[in-house]
Amino acid sequence: MNTRGDSARQLAAELLADRDTNREGVAIAAPAVYLAELAEQLKGSGIALSAQDVSRFDADGAFTGEVSAAMLADAGCRYALVGHSERRQYFAESNEALLKKMRHAIAAGLVPVLCVGETLEQREAGDYMEVVRRQLALLADIDHGDEYVVAYEPVWAIGTGKVATLEQIAEIHAFIKNWCLQKAGGSAKIRVLYGGSVKAENAESILATKHVDGALVGGASLDARSFRVICQAAGKMI
Ligand code: PGA
Repeated sequence: MNTRGDSARQLAAELLADRDTNREGVAIAAPAVYLAELAEQLKGSGIALSAQDVSRFDADGAFTGEVSAAMLADAGCRYALVGHSERRQYFAESNEALLKKMRHAIAAGLVPVLCVGETLEQREAGDYMEVVRRQLALLADIDHGDEYVVAYEPVWAIGTGKVATLEQIAEIHAFIKNWCLQKAGGSAKIRVLYGGSVKAENAESILATKHVDGALVGGASLDARSFRVICQAAGKMI
């Protein structure tokens, strides 16, 4: 829940003006009210647009306040985040609701980005693999061949300045990738992003870590210069 119309347009303009940020593989996830306008601004550029959430309802009708996958696609989105930890925390989103969101996003032609990750308590109790496995379980009900992205975001690292160690990231990313590949019969192209206090200073080492295919960036994406450095680091990995 950041930016206003002016600052969103300004940030998008700065990203558009830079070759490191205006290229394939970069997407911005904006608040819903600014999506349609940003879609116009980004038209023809390399930058894709993402929603930060999508409704679990798909049919038009009496769901006041909701924004459906079809509406997001119509407004120009390519991606939609699903199950970001703040949605899970503040809106009690269950796996059942998240599966609906995934399905509706895919049906509308969007690529859902399923966010998973454990809390500090779960990490310290040693339960983190099991927590993530349970969060991934809904993917078993997604059709083979459907495109989706997984973002591993340890809750304790989001917006806190604490970053998981490279060993912690490598361990869980390998687990997520294997889990998804097994489910998809080994043939799918699974992208697993890391998120949680990714910044200009740590992006290169995180993005160079095995099984890390990209980053989901929160706070550092609000500053075009730091986002640029992160995109440069990502560009080196291609
Ligand atoms: P952060 O946020 O980069 O500010 O930790 C990540 C996120 O909100 O997904």
